[in-house]
Amino acid sequence: MPLVGTKEMFKKAYEGGYAIGAFNVNNMEIVQGITDAAGELKSPLILQVSAGARKYARHEYLVHLVKAALEINNIPIALHLDHGADFDICKSCIDGGFTSVMIDGSHLPYDENVALAKRVAEYAHAHGVVVEAELGQLAGIEDDVNVSAEDASYTKPEEVQDFVEKTGVDSLAIAIGTSHGAFKFTPEQCTRNADGVLVPPPLRFDILEEIEKRIPGFPIVLHGASSVIPKYVKIINENGGHMPDAVGIPEDQLRRAAKSSVCKINIDSDLRLAMTAGIREHFKKEPGHFDPRQYLTDGRSYIKELVTHKIKEVLGSDGKAAEIQALLNK
Ligand code: G3H
Ligand code: 13P
Ligand code: ZN
Repeated sequence: MPLVGTKEMFKKAYEGGYAIGAFNVNNMEIVQGITDAAGELKSPLILQVSAGARKYARHEYLVHLVKAALEINNIPIALHLDHGADFDICKSCIDGGFTSVMIDGSHLPYDENVALAKRVAEYAHAHGVVVEAELGQLAGIEDDVNVSAEDASYTKPEEVQDFVEKTGVDSLAIAIGTSHGAFKFTPEQCTRNADGVLVPPPLRFDILEEIEKRIPGFPIVLHGASSVIPKYVKIINENGGHMPDAVGIPEDQLRRAAKSSVCKINIDSDLRLAMTAGIREHFKKEPGHFDPRQYLTDGRSYIKELVTHKIKEVLGSDGKAAEIQALLNK
């Protein structure tokens, strides 16, 4: 099966009240852990590559790793550029085999964001590639950009219809309180439950509903949507790590989002935590090991476990490969 775009995935996800997981990939073990899980569960997938991932692993390796996963697993997979900073990186990914790109002009003044997204959408569509853009700004760290909580801003519902019409983009990332990284909220922004566990401020579903009213049927994307699963943070901290007060988006809120217009949920930090937990646990038990295949096997196993959990319990995309494939075959 060749790489696919996200149009059919989002149509089915919107209608069916589920979301497609967009998982960041940086090396072979991450690609394998994710696609082994999705292949077994017959789930569609988006594998996404950041500028940092391209710098680390190089474009060609990532494309070929994803294509290898496609040969082994009979599921629809889209290859997506995450947080494309300018036209040139989008063009390079479109020309280099990606089926979807994000142009991230969210930090620009509105009119410049529109102009940039429109230019990328025109080029992408001429090459059969779909485009995601962003309105509003998330807090947190992505690539080399660190947006403080004060500089973050929610998406303005009154702008979305104009933006989508003027740019012609295919999906829209919005800011409703998610945030990049493993430390999404400071303890001061949270409350604590009876067990002393940090409880973050809830997502702004009221803003999401306003957006849905203005662009009904249009696929919405949530960035910064890792849950920072306590199990993996605990393993890291019990095996030599130090990640106090790491906190993410509670899963019940992500499930609610997946049932709404949110068709794509971005997950990177949870993958990093799962892999690090596996490796740290391995070394604590086996300090004499030095064969990377030994400790990377454990990192990869936790990635597979994590993605299985996300697909079944958060995204609801298990078993949905066939209906998307049927739509693609029409
Ligand atoms: O949104 C950002 C992603 O987590 C990618 O992170 O740029 O460090 O690869 P990265
Ligand atoms: P997390 O840091 O919450 O995993 O977000 C990842 C993301 O949005 C990638 O674009
Ligand atoms: Zn992101």
